[in-house]
Amino acid sequence: MHSIKNSKTILFSSTKGGVGKTIFTLNMAGIFSALEKKVLIIDLDLTSGAIALSLNIKYNKSIYEMSEDLKNNVFGDFDDYTLKYNDYISIIAAPKDPREASKVDLRYIDSIIDQATFKYDVILIDSNHDLNPLNLYLLDKVDDILFVVNNDPLCLKSTRSLLSILNNIEINNYHVVLNNSNNPYKNYFSLYDIKNILQANIDYSITNTFFIENIDKLIMAGEIITLNSSIARTFNKDYSTMMTIAADLTKGSDNNGKK
Ligand SMILES: Nc1ncnc2c1ncn2[C@@H]1O[C@H](COP(=O)(O)OP(=O)(O)OP(=O)(O)O)[C@@H](O)[C@H]1O
Ligand SMILES: [Mg+2]
Repeated sequence: MHSIKNSKTILFSSTKGGVGKTIFTLNMAGIFSALEKKVLIIDLDLTSGAIALSLNIKYNKSIYEMSEDLKNNVFGDFDDYTLKYNDYISIIAAPKDPREASKVDLRYIDSIIDQATFKYDVILIDSNHDLNPLNLYLLDKVDDILFVVNNDPLCLKSTRSLLSILNNIEINNYHVVLNNSNNPYKNYFSLYDIKNILQANIDYSITNTFFIENIDKLIMAGEIITLNSSIARTFNKDYSTMMTIAADLTKGSDNNGKK
């Protein structure tokens, strides 16, 4: 029997859209899967979630059906609502219909995350950049937050504001990830400038060499980049950065995969 403490819940967050959260979430799932950790990705970008779409997984049950079944006391087995990608990665999809997003009650999301901690080594939560009640709740709920920023003045400034608010309310369990991989031509600020604007450290950097030219082809094929061995070889440095992130985030937790 595993205690709740052995599982890590990690939120992928940002203050701007399109900085690469979803692709990074998938890549980290690939890394944890390579480390033989049981991973659950919960897609909590409720209005425009793309995890199931990116992995080409067809589904009938999403987080909406899960929360409805909990509400109506007809919730079955947790595994009936998760979708399997490989032996290690499962997902809970975002609602198919964006109109269902506002009907997913926070109370049930809380219960779903708690239940997941008994079954998975790592729970990765993809979110969107709104500071809505769901995302505020998640910032408070998770063990670790990965803030994805890119080399963009507005993204950096809005992240600085958010980090200072978080510091005020004593949320310190975040790590800043500078993602230079989805827009390699955006390089106006140096690392020094970026730290100055953010007034915070960059904990990890994904370099612009991790810009994958044929990413659309891989996404159409439902591939996770970090599980593609030829790509993992080519992008050695960024692959090992992601390995380091995985190791840092699971430090102190039980390393035996859950069965
Ligand atoms: N390493 C990469 N190489 C090339 N393109 C990338 C890479 N990472 C992300 N992208 C592209 O950048 C775009 C934005 O990425 P993504 O959807 O992951 O961002 P996001 O932060 O989740 O966006 P949103 O806020 O809309 O959810 C996508 O078109 C994606 O294919
Ligand atoms: Mg996204």
